[in-house]
Amino acid sequence: MAVRLCCVLLCFAVGIPLASAAGNAEAGRSLYPVCTACHGAQGQGNRAMSAPKIAGQHGFYLLKQMQHFQSGARGTAPGDAKGRQMAAMSKGPRLASNAALENLIAYVQSFPDKKIVKTVSGDTDRGKDLYVACASCHGDEAQGLEMMAAPRLAGQNDWYLVAQLENFAAGKRGYAPGDHGGRQMKAMMGVLKNSEDYRDVVAYINTLSQ
Ligand code: HEC
Ligand code: HEC
Repeated sequence: MAVRLCCVLLCFAVGIPLASAAGNAEAGRSLYPVCTACHGAQGQGNRAMSAPKIAGQHGFYLLKQMQHFQSGARGTAPGDAKGRQMAAMSKGPRLASNAALENLIAYVQSFPDKKIVKTVSGDTDRGKDLYVACASCHGDEAQGLEMMAAPRLAGQNDWYLVAQLENFAAGKRGYAPGDHGGRQMKAMMGVLKNSEDYRDVVAYINTLSQ
């Protein structure tokens, strides 16, 4: 705790963005070009490739997802073609160490967090009621809470959020025994009954400050 506080103070003092404290963004730069075709040059996402925005997401979550794709805790469920594609991209000698992943993610976190184009519409009043069940982990503003291992949802591509809710419901995420966060999230799908619920809750998330 004391070490962390010192780091925070030091980062303020020398003007390093806090989010990148774990990795070296410059060292991560050369690892990113292979990601560009799907996630965009600045991590803004690309719907045509089904690849979400990764700019503006918490580093702890990006790191964990890369590790999940590498270990098979994500991207190996039957029928998950998109997850399998991404899993293939997470492997290879250059990404084999956690230090390399941390550098890559520090670089991703240097991208500007641009607003998304909204594509999902729904009943935001219903969505607000549904979101009550989500706030304890994802935060009141869907900003993500590291303590709960829960990612930021506000500002994420809305079509991607709907697709991931479908994936959790279908068991394409949260299936691995060691994936505690994913299993917790999968269990939450009891609250959302059908695609109308998915759209409504995502439409509400779209109203939160990005
Ligand atoms: C061939 C296209 C492709 C390439 C190249 C690619 N990705 Fe992905 N990535 C995807 C797709 C598609 C998904 C969504 C998978 C799903 O639907 O579950 C994804 C998901 C992710 C996620 C999870 C995001 C979240 O919010 O859950 C991260 C992190 C990620 N990619 C990082 C990277 C990085 C870093 C690279 C470069 C090393 C990369 N990707 C290269 C297609 C790609
Ligand atoms: C008990 C805590 C908890 C609650 C409550 C919860 N979530 Fe999650 N959620 C998580 C965790 C943890 C993850 C990350 C899972 C992982 O690491 O793969 C997640 C992931 C997600 C994702 C995937 C995001 C991405 O970038 O891939 C979506 C979408 C999501 N949650 C929506 C919701 C919605 C909507 C609700 C309310 C109905 C909700 N969550 C309630 C813990 C929770």
